[in-house]
Amino acid sequence: MQPFRVGVPDAAFTDRADEVARVLDVMRSGGRLVVYGERRLGKTTLLRRAAARLGREGGVVVYVDAWAAADSGAVFRSILSQLPGGWLRGERVTDLLRALAGMVTLGVSATSGSPVLRLDPGQRRIPDDAVQRLIRALDRAAARAEGPVALVIDEFQKLEDRTGITPAELRGLAQECANLSVILSGSAKGMILGLMAPDAPFYGVPALEVRPIDATHLARWVRSVLVKAGVELSPEGARALVQRAEGVTSYVLELGNQVAADAEGSVEPADVDAAFRAMTLSRAAQYELLWDGLNVHARNLLAALAHGEEALTGQSVRERFGLPASSTVVYHLDQLRKRAFLRPVSEPAIADPFFREWITLRTAPR
Ligand SMILES: Nc1ncnc2c1ncn2[C@@H]1O[C@H](COP(=O)(O)OP(=O)(O)OP(=O)(O)O)[C@@H](O)[C@H]1O
Ligand SMILES: [Mg+2]
Repeated sequence: MQPFRVGVPDAAFTDRADEVARVLDVMRSGGRLVVYGERRLGKTTLLRRAAARLGREGGVVVYVDAWAAADSGAVFRSILSQLPGGWLRGERVTDLLRALAGMVTLGVSATSGSPVLRLDPGQRRIPDDAVQRLIRALDRAAARAEGPVALVIDEFQKLEDRTGITPAELRGLAQECANLSVILSGSAKGMILGLMAPDAPFYGVPALEVRPIDATHLARWVRSVLVKAGVELSPEGARALVQRAEGVTSYVLELGNQVAADAEGSVEPADVDAAFRAMTLSRAAQYELLWDGLNVHARNLLAALAHGEEALTGQSVRERFGLPASSTVVYHLDQLRKRAFLRPVSEPAIADPFFREWITLRTAPR
């Protein structure tokens, strides 16, 4: 039994009314917005919600996941495939073809018979500025559109790596494209805050931080979904569940599914603990692989953190866990943060509570 569907577009949704309203407002009014927050709290889901609502109002949202795209070509094709059919007829398409001359051809979809723009198959390599040109073309098309047009770039911190578009260039492009709303979202919180600092490219751009859903609300909601699915989760059990998953939306749902799968009779905090351990063990193979890929300093640091140590640069912890000199500790903490093993906050903390549990089982306290 899986009462929670994780990572699917039409999954259940709770809270976030203010955030969705804010994003929708920006989409309707041609604004700019940077959405940021820690991982797995629900940024993508709330962007998708707002996008669906704009779509129902007659607007158009082009959504790019920069993480998932391999390179410029993938970003280009993704944008191209989301242009509404109505733009691919008459004067509009003439305009688009002119703007994208040498890169795309107009064809007909084999399945639906509707017109489609395709990356010109004769092109070996798309030009370096192909994505920029496509975004400008999108902006020109938006000037003629009846409703608002929004460009959403999720995981935008990966855009430079994928397409070569630097943050400064992206800012310039967003300024130039006055007919589009531009929403950038990402989970590399430290880096994004850096981009919004004075003198940095996104200084002054309005921002929305996505924070954890209120724990009391989340516990009540999880309980109501589980009870409806026939799982007798007690209010204390629901609180324990949210706490175990550290209030992170997707971990809460995954643990909720495990609790549902294991439930026999009334579910209390001890049953939630058992489900938490069961989930940890079910991921052992995956965690073992991650662990294998880490160097010895990273492993010892994670072990110290998992066993509750805080003063990682202190001599006692360094001796017990075999940690290097404190400057090297700082360096490795930074690397672990960059690779998202640690939360993007100043005090080091392991991001995935199941991984942390697995580390405590895998390594000895010292
Ligand atoms: N408001 C919500 N109510 C219920 N479930 C939610 C809500 N927001 C997100 N979820 C669920 O939580 C999971 C994670 O959400 P999502 O992928 O949107 O997070 P994210 O912040 O974009 O994560 P990442 O950092 O991995 O990109 C998804 O399975 C989604 O269905
Ligand atoms: Mg996301």
